[in-house]
This record gives sequence, C-alpha cells and structure tokens, in this order.
Amino acid sequence: MSVLTGKELRIVGFLCNWCSYGGADTAGVGRFVQPTDLRIIRVPCSGRIDPLFIVKALLNGADGVLVSGCHPRDCHYSQGNFYARRRLEVLKHFLPVLGIDPARFEYTWVSASEAQRWQKVVSSFTERIHKLGPASRLENTALPDGLEKRFAAIASGELPSDGKAATRLEELKDRIHEFLPDLDIVIGWQRGFDALHNTPLFMRSAEDLEKLVWGPLNIHNTATYLPSLRGKKVGVVVKGCDSRSVVELLQEKLVDRENIVVFGMPCSGIVDLSKIDRALRERGTGIGRVQAAECGEKGVTIKAGGQEYRFAMEEVAADKCFHCEYPNAVLADHLIGNASPSSSNGKISRQLAAFDAMSLQERMAYWRSQMDRCIRCHACRNACPLCVCKDHCIAQSRDPHWISQEDTITEKLMFQVVHAVHTAGRCTECGECERACPMDIPILAMKRQMNRAIRELFEYKAGTDPEAVPPLLAFQAEEKNIHEGVL
Ligand code: FES
Repeated sequence: MSVLTGKELRIVGFLCNWCSYGGADTAGVGRFVQPTDLRIIRVPCSGRIDPLFIVKALLNGADGVLVSGCHPRDCHYSQGNFYARRRLEVLKHFLPVLGIDPARFEYTWVSASEAQRWQKVVSSFTERIHKLGPASRLENTALPDGLEKRFAAIASGELPSDGKAATRLEELKDRIHEFLPDLDIVIGWQRGFDALHNTPLFMRSAEDLEKLVWGPLNIHNTATYLPSLRGKKVGVVVKGCDSRSVVELLQEKLVDRENIVVFGMPCSGIVDLSKIDRALRERGTGIGRVQAAECGEKGVTIKAGGQEYRFAMEEVAADKCFHCEYPNAVLADHLIGNASPSSSNGKISRQLAAFDAMSLQERMAYWRSQMDRCIRCHACRNACPLCVCKDHCIAQSRDPHWISQEDTITEKLMFQVVHAVHTAGRCTECGECERACPMDIPILAMKRQMNRAIRELFEYKAGTDPEAVPPLLAFQAEEKNIHEGVL
C-alpha cells in the first residue's frame, strides 16, 4: 500500500529554516508528490533542536519524529549541525532504554535546492513509520508477571576489597589535622541521627575532626557541596565515585582547582539502606527500630528490636558498587593507604545485562510501573552533584513550560528523561539520585545506560580526566562512530 493512500500517522518534523525547510518548500513549489503525515516545525538551525523536543513528541503521541538540517559544513551558523549530530545520535541510542523503537526517530540533511532528496527522505521515513504502525502508548502498557522481581534481584557480582578501614581513618584524621589550619572547611562524614545513617560533616576545628567516621555507611557524595562553597578553601574527603564528581565539576569550571584539597580514600563499597530496610522488614522489624550497627570485613551487623541481624556486604551493597571501576580516587592531593583493587574486570553489570534482555515493550512497561510511584519530590535532582541549574530547572519553569504539574506517568517519566539528557556525558554514576529517591525507583539504571551510549559513541567516561572536554560540548567534522544518513 502506498503511504499516500493509507491512514495518516502522526509524524513530527523539525526542520532548519535555512536548508531543509527551504528544501521542503522547493519540493512543494515544484509539485513533488509527498505523504501528508508530516507536521513541520521550523527551527533556526538543527543546533537549536533539544533532544528533549523529540522525546516529548514521542511520549505525547507522535508515531515518528524526523529532524533535518543543512549538510555538515553547510550550517548557516557554521557548527550547529555538528553539535546536533552528536546529541541526536546519543538520543537514538537512548530511546530503546525507554522502550521506544529507535526507528521511530531519524535525522538527516537536506539542502534548500534538494527538492527531490526531500521528497525521497519524507517518503521513505513515512513509509518506515507506516510499516511500524502506531506507536505504543506509555499509559497503555502492562507489566508482564514477574518482570519487576527479575530486574530487582539481579544486582550482584564482585565488590572491591579493603580490609584496613580502621587504620585508614586514623591516617586520614592525621592528614586533615595537618592541613585544617589552611582551609576554611573540610567535608567528610559523621554518625547521623541513628547508628545506620551517617551524614555529611563540615569540619572547621580539631573538635569537629573527632566526629569524622569512615566505612560503608558513608554514602553521601561529598562533592555535591563544592559549588555552593566556591570562593572558600575547601578540603573534601572522597570515595572513588565522589572524586569523579570533583573532576567533572573542575572540567565544567564550577569549582576552582586551587581552592580544593582532595583527600582520597580507597572504597570497598557502600551499603544501600533501602536494601537493609527491606531485609529487616522481611524479618519482622524495620530500619526505624535500629539500635546499633557495626560494619566489618564480613558485612554489617545490626541490632534492632533487641535482636541481632548479620548481612553479608554482597546482600546489602549499593548496586553501583558491584563491578566498580573506580574504587580509588581518580584525583587526590592526598591518597590515604593503598588502593583497593577495582572489581570491574571489564564486565558489564548484571543490571544492564538484565535490562538488555527485555523487549522494547517490557522496558516501556517497566518504566511505567516504576514511574507510577514517583511523587515528584525532585529529591533525585536536588541530590545530584551535577544538577547545577538550581532555581532555573526546566522541570519547574513555567516559561518555557516543559513539564506540567499533572500527575501522569508521562510527565513523571519526562522529568527523569530531562535529568538523564541533561547529565548525558556528565553523569559519574555516583548514584545519589537513586539513594535520595524516597520511592525506591531505580533511576540510576537509566543514567548508566545513557553513559554506556556515550562510551560506545565517544570512548569517553565522565569524571576521569580534568582536562577532557565533555563529548556533547565538542564535535569532530568526521565522527568515527557516527554513521548518519540512512534516509
Ligand atoms: Fe541549518 Fe544550522 S542553519 S543546520
């Protein structure tokens, strides 16, 4: 059946004003026959196209989205399409994470004089979308039995090892004591309101230093506080993942290297308190009844409701710590003790492998079921060390009005996609978003998959090199791993 005679589907086209819109116009003036499914939105340049435009269209009922700009090297703003190409390619890799068929999105280049090429592009893309049929709607997907459990149970593997935590704490205290007089503040961790909840500690004196603790309960990312302390001389104690956030903040010039002193501690994994809570509940008690907790080489021993419970570290470690690539600080002025060996062995985490094994339909259903719980508290964003827009976050802005206050799955998922897209190529996988989520939504899984796309496309890992330029702030005229132009 010709695409021109079937039922119309909803296809949104974002066309740059100078080339592709001109090409579509030329095709119209020349009376080239074209399908009528496409609804065109004219933009000044393909560089103006935020990948979120495309996700928003696809989550809100579009069956396909086509982007077209000037050919590489012909952009009227010289480099807009080079930047766009990177962003759009990353999006193409990311759409399947949301359960959206990447074939529903395409980008290409058409010049103002290429009426015939425009006809071919729009016809073949429309034909493709007709072959795929109407897109599945997020609200209508249902989670297959057992899928959620299958995904929740897979975080396991190897953890880094470090048997000398106690002696390292004394060494760390000595080192901080030495430098404290030259610093305004040093950030570390202290015991919190109960035995399980360690909280950030801001040290200004030797008395404060006495409160410093070290171990798997030090879950907060200390780098989160650095941008708000800019201008002061700050010492910061970091685990491997925290140190990557420091590097990323330095790369983005959000902190000044000369004002930061980094104390690196080798890490052997941190606990996930929600796992402990779940395990305690299964035993008829809960995290609210904890009286004492002790972390040792063998794991965590908890006294709750008069009973003692022991958990191996593998049972309660945060998912991000399995196969950890960076248990040691990637940047440190003072490295305490010997390094913990990495446990990654180049293996893909089982969480990602389990996600890969899901069909597109299952992934969409999975996110639907997860987002159903979201209460839009924005804790994930607030805890993220790299979410630095603060008062200007587009998730709350009314102008432009990106996300409504409606309590729908689509709006909730859109918020998470905004976070994932805004931290693409910047996220250091510290897991603060997931830790802060009061509804236990595995949001980090989304970011990890975005990171994997970035790694595959640009051979880049965020927060590992203070001199590197984040990949979405750069381009190559010839991209090694991008092969666009299939239409
Ligand atoms: Fe057309 Fe930049 S002006 S892509």
